Amino acid sequence: MSARSVQIRTVPESEIQRALRLAHLVFHESPESDQRRHQQELLSRCLRIGAYDGDELVGFAAALPFSLSVPGGGELPCPGLTFVSVAPTHRRRGVLSSLIGELYARCAEQGAPLVALWASEASIYGRFGFGPATYGTTVEIDSRRALALRVAPDPRPLRLVDPGAAPAALAPFFEATRARRAGRQARTEAWWREEWLVEKDEEDDELSPPRVVALGDPVAGYAIYRTKPGDDDAHTPGLVRVDDLEAESAEVAATLWSYLTAIDLTGRVRAWGRPLDDPLLLFAADRDQVRVTASFPSLWVRLVDVRAAFAARTWAAPVDVVLAVHDERLPANAGSYRLIASPDGFSYAATEDAPDLSLEARDLASAYMGATPVRALVRAGLAAEHTPGAASMLDAALHTELLPHTVDAF
Ligand SMILES: CC(C)(COP(=O)(O)OP(=O)(O)OC[C@H]1O[C@@H](n2cnc3c(N)ncnc32)[C@H](O)[C@@H]1OP(=O)(O)O)[C@@H](O)C(=O)NCCC(=O)NCCS
Repeated sequence: MSARSVQIRTVPESEIQRALRLAHLVFHESPESDQRRHQQELLSRCLRIGAYDGDELVGFAAALPFSLSVPGGGELPCPGLTFVSVAPTHRRRGVLSSLIGELYARCAEQGAPLVALWASEASIYGRFGFGPATYGTTVEIDSRRALALRVAPDPRPLRLVDPGAAPAALAPFFEATRARRAGRQARTEAWWREEWLVEKDEEDDELSPPRVVALGDPVAGYAIYRTKPGDDDAHTPGLVRVDDLEAESAEVAATLWSYLTAIDLTGRVRAWGRPLDDPLLLFAADRDQVRVTASFPSLWVRLVDVRAAFAARTWAAPVDVVLAVHDERLPANAGSYRLIASPDGFSYAATEDAPDLSLEARDLASAYMGATPVRALVRAGLAAEHTPGAASMLDAALHTELLPHTVDAF
């Protein structure tokens, strides 16, 4: 068989269970019925693309209908690629390439300039033009002693919020954080309930249901966390796993972290996916107590339409550069373009002028929201600077006050 004998078409709702069987096979999973129901429901809301060998579904990719915040407070439709699965009998014959080609065509039809994903393996998606566009860290705090801080916590009281009431209570504040930080998807009420506030944690059934703590009315900061009892025999203290924490100021963050590290019968706090520029890492007085134990790419982004992606963001400083963009998979992006932008305006038009900078679409995606400076790409040998200073000028224009950051994994 070759990829040519495989047909790419929409997977109808009636075949979602088939798609899930394929996904469970390739991801080595056998989820319980609750989770299967949840996945069925999730996929019913997705764009679903299948690769069929005759009647057999041999490849599958779904795209969640996300909207992503981009620098300056704007939004772009950004399908979230997920459940990417190719049957073990049909791998390495171009099935994934065909599915992604179809996805790009559908994005173009629907006017979605971006596509995003979380990668199971970092080696897969660069060739398709995806670059890591946001990063996260895992932070672990030794909370057997009080958290030492260099800022005074906000003195306002904390309150526990019933998880049922949490989406309505937290959503306006979370929306405001999206305007400040690029790289965040909008959360629907269903997304809050099913991804953040679900009673039973999918990965660890020893964890408590979600707890929600908030400060201020209107909310000025909140944390969603779960706890797990310690194990005396193994000398492991109880755990507080922080799933989401947002604060409008360092003082509010200090109050939330102080609370989380002072919960009785626990001695460890673990927070996954924190931003690289989390102020906690600066205001913690003892960095031996607050350790970054992992750092990883979070959201991978593909600029399906570079011009539309550029048009939707704001620019921090004036820039006038000719970019030679290399894009094998989406030739409409490829070629030389003059980018003229400033806080007041923007243009991006094909030109025959000599390029100031040459780079690949995947690296442009990494630079787009400000996660990776173009100068770093030049230093790494991934971009070529033909006009001295061009990379610095572009970096000043791409600059964002806060690093882009993604909290919603999918
Ligand atoms: C990953 C997966 C989808 C790839 O599908 P596939 O149909 O075999 O991929 P293709 O044949 O279209 O490969 C396209 C290119 O990607 C490369 N590639 C594919 N999977 C790769 C992997 N896991 N690691 C490194 N390279 C990979 C291929 O070698 C090929 O390279 P080329 O263009 O230089 O020839 C498939 O192996 C799979 O379902 N894996 C298990 C589930 C999974 O990991 N999904 C991804 C979730 S984010």
